[in-house]
Amino acid sequence: APVRREDYRAPDWLIPQVELDFALDPARTIVRARLHVVRNGEHDRPLRLDGEALETLSASLDGQPIEVRIEAEQLVVPIAAASAVLETEVAILPDQNSQLMGLYASGGILCTQCESEGFRRITWFADRPDVLSTYRVRLSADRARFPILLANGNPVERGEGEGGTHWALWEDPFPKPSYLFAIVAGDLACNADTFTTASGRKVDLGIWVREPDLPKTAHAMQALKDSMAWDERAYGREYDLDRFNIVAVSDFNFGAMENKGLNIFNTRYVLADAETATDADIDAVAAVVAHEYFHNWSGNRVTCRDWFQLSLKEGLTVFRDQSFSEAMGSEAVQRIDQVRMLRAAQFPEDAGPLAHPVRPDSYLEIANFYTATVYNKGAEVIRMMRTLLGPERYRKGTDLYFERHDGQAVTCEDFVRAMEDASGIDLGQFRFWYSQAGTPRVEARLVQENGRAALHLRQSVPATSGQPLKQPMVIPLKVALIGADSGREIAKERLVVMREATHVEPFADVTEPALLSINRHFSAPIVVTAERKPGEIEALAETDTDPFARYEAGQELMTRDLMAAIFGQPLRTDAVVTAVGATLRSQALDPAFKADAIALPAESLLIEHLDAADPGKVHDVREAMRRAIGTELADDLSRAHMAASRADPASLAGADKGLRRLRSATLALLAAGNAELGRSLASRQYDAAKTMTERQSALMVLATLGGGEAEKALDDFYRRFENDPLVIDKWFAVQASVPGDATLDTVERLMAHPAFTLANPNRLRAVAGSFAGTPSAFHRPDGRGYDWLAEVIVAADKLNPQTAARFVAPLGRWRRIEPVRAAMMRAALERILREPGLSKDVLELAGKSLG
Ligand code: ARG
Ligand code: ZN
Repeated sequence: APVRREDYRAPDWLIPQVELDFALDPARTIVRARLHVVRNGEHDRPLRLDGEALETLSASLDGQPIEVRIEAEQLVVPIAAASAVLETEVAILPDQNSQLMGLYASGGILCTQCESEGFRRITWFADRPDVLSTYRVRLSADRARFPILLANGNPVERGEGEGGTHWALWEDPFPKPSYLFAIVAGDLACNADTFTTASGRKVDLGIWVREPDLPKTAHAMQALKDSMAWDERAYGREYDLDRFNIVAVSDFNFGAMENKGLNIFNTRYVLADAETATDADIDAVAAVVAHEYFHNWSGNRVTCRDWFQLSLKEGLTVFRDQSFSEAMGSEAVQRIDQVRMLRAAQFPEDAGPLAHPVRPDSYLEIANFYTATVYNKGAEVIRMMRTLLGPERYRKGTDLYFERHDGQAVTCEDFVRAMEDASGIDLGQFRFWYSQAGTPRVEARLVQENGRAALHLRQSVPATSGQPLKQPMVIPLKVALIGADSGREIAKERLVVMREATHVEPFADVTEPALLSINRHFSAPIVVTAERKPGEIEALAETDTDPFARYEAGQELMTRDLMAAIFGQPLRTDAVVTAVGATLRSQALDPAFKADAIALPAESLLIEHLDAADPGKVHDVREAMRRAIGTELADDLSRAHMAASRADPASLAGADKGLRRLRSATLALLAAGNAELGRSLASRQYDAAKTMTERQSALMVLATLGGGEAEKALDDFYRRFENDPLVIDKWFAVQASVPGDATLDTVERLMAHPAFTLANPNRLRAVAGSFAGTPSAFHRPDGRGYDWLAEVIVAADKLNPQTAARFVAPLGRWRRIEPVRAAMMRAALERILREPGLSKDVLELAGKSLG
């Protein structure tokens, strides 16, 4: 039965203090827990603690052994007094833990993952975020195999034990929920540094990795120090412990985890150098390091009351890490990347069977709600509040929020109320952004006459499952009018706040023909359809004064002509070719922006516009457009490709990264125009590459073109990086992302490769995630792509339900696909559902995906 938000009840018992003792052994670890429990309010209900996969060895209450009574995965302990000390002893099996939740082994390192409900796989506990405790943790283990013993908080004491063991005692003075608990034991080396906070506290920083990986931790360390300084400047938030540790492990279900004072990361978001990581990977390292660090305030000091409030910490923290990245790099390019990601991952979610509000109302398995809606739409919701309040009042709001709720477990409502109280601005209607699912649509029409203009807006929010009727939302739209002749802002940018279903915005003194620039900076996470005059988008793509809006106009232009051809008209390429040519030749635009602006909308995005897409047709039309650009602009592209080779391979400055981005984008278009030219340019770029950015983009082009050069480069790549799992993931991912029907055979061969394993989430994502994310490969007309994915989901589910469940969504997109394939997609989902012993994770998503 699903858990429902409205059923929330405060905990019957609190656990202010916890003492844990771990006798660590990968085969069988013994965990002794001493819980100081206190009755919360007047009631006579027993203490109920969660546990999963625990072998209970003993239990006692106030020193007296008690009978172990277990009901529905809960230990039930009747207690007469108002407080008591409960002691339990359990055995757990880290080596057998393939779910990677709780205590598990990764490449000889013992580590934990507790969010959301992993702590119950370590010991009996009230495993919910509104039970906050201080922890004292003793770890003991074999000294040779596990020389380093880490836990949350501060180290207190250490010593030698019997039989070659040693031990360490850690204490975390900050009360925290169990999901922030962490320990690590292993043979780890440390990149050590320090940071002095604004108030003069010296913090010891450590990034712990396997010894050979130490040289690859410099970027992460720099990002950590930048993040600490930025959070002081932008939000007035200082770090609060004497020590901050990051540990990198190779087996991890997602990106990273913000455990108090002991963040645990997927190696993918720590290890990076120019030779083995692309510029995009390196930027992602900085963003994730920042994200997890920022959680120390938005998540740890102020945490969530229950898991329905997940966006309270995730939406806010994503917004904070986005703002950090904007401050560190080019703001416009960052914004374009954020919106791309939102459109690729969140819009389809909001338009499909898995649509849910930013604050969900119910779930079967909370792990399924770590979604683009909770994270990325959640971040857009915070961004809109900042836009509506203005930066100063927004900052007053966050100051009040942190001050008022420090040490508490609170709700999204508490955050909005702090914003209201600090700013005096009513956010009543704005709250629909938390409760209503679906991407709002706005239709816009600019009417101009007699020296005036009026912008007519109409909004609607599509029905989503369980929410047939919607209320009008508050939609903050940044709008400007651009003179069609002068190219200047003839009406300066203003904020139009839509509150009703329709809105008319007047503009005085508009004498020149006006072009409508709307939703500038992507001020609202919505779909805008503007009625366009002939030539208007073309003109905006060249003149819009907001770089983001200029990019948008280019995308709108490309989408218009691609969609017309998908609907059967002859493909018009002239307008797009002209716009791309102008972009390439522009002296004013920077290379990173150019790289984004010349890329066509992704196939998955085009499919989202359709009701019965033929993915093969979408691919062919898009390829035809790319071919036209590649042939007709060969000179401009070659010049840009050549010029971009001047990027300094040793530099990560924005200018050099931008040049490399443009080099990859132009190479891909040249190859689309002329396969022979593409092969020779890509081979040369591959051989001369000094950075992974150049090498990987060349390899992708070669793999797509196929033939002897592709095989040669793939073999070289494998041999060169054989001992670097993160780079071998790229080798798998590149081959699984080649467009076309033949990729399924490649993918089946990859699964049989000795380096493939279903047990490692990064490796599985590299193959299954890449394949399912390549529409022309996944949607083979014979449906075998769907069958393959369904089999992978079923097999992976037996090992790791959380990771298996992540691959269900692509099958749930059947509503957008033509009926023959859609039926086969549904059949694949039904086959998954017939599998006995399915996890809650996969059951929930596959069931909902059928609708
Ligand atoms: N809190 C982590 C973050 O920084 C992610 C945890 C994901 N947990 C899960 N069960 N999927 O975003
Ligand atoms: Zn997070």
